[in-house]
Amino acid sequence: MKKIFFIGFMGTGKTTIGKLVSDKLNLDFIDTDSLIEERLNMSISNIFEEWGEEYFRKLEHDVICKIIKSTEGTVIATGGGTPLYHGNLQLMKNNGLVIGLNTSPKELWRRLQDCQERPLLKQYNTYKKFCKLYRNRSNIYAQAHITIKTDGKSLEEIVKEVISYVFKFF
Ligand code: S3P
Repeated sequence: MKKIFFIGFMGTGKTTIGKLVSDKLNLDFIDTDSLIEERLNMSISNIFEEWGEEYFRKLEHDVICKIIKSTEGTVIATGGGTPLYHGNLQLMKNNGLVIGLNTSPKELWRRLQDCQERPLLKQYNTYKKFCKLYRNRSNIYAQAHITIKTDGKSLEEIVKEVISYVFKFF
């Protein structure tokens, strides 16, 4: 049942770090947002615009269920909202190691400034609103099996930290 799920706010590095960890451990890598985009042949922004967030959350849940059923030895980068909906957090915790990435809102806000692809940023478009969303979600992310703080660390350091937890867990 070796599955490693990365959860965390937008911009914490779930995809980048997940990919590096999968390479190091010689495991497959899946990014749930990319999988949804490939399946529908549409960008996440367009899915939100045309079908709405609720529909996206259903697709996201469906993808999580399929990954759990049909993959083995996989690192999965989830979307920032994945653990908040449809019992996904518990599902992931029951079926693998859930690693939370934690980055300060200040740093995330800086990283996400030039990003056009994240539909939620249209709604949470001031630092104040952004911090509110961050606060509202943080107790969900905190329920990961382990949380790794990323501020001030290099990618290499973070990957090393992740791998040491992976060896302890499995
Ligand atoms: C979302 C985060 C995005 C993507 C969608 C919704 C969220 O993923 O799933 O735009 O609710 O935080 P990233 O965390 O990879 O940006």
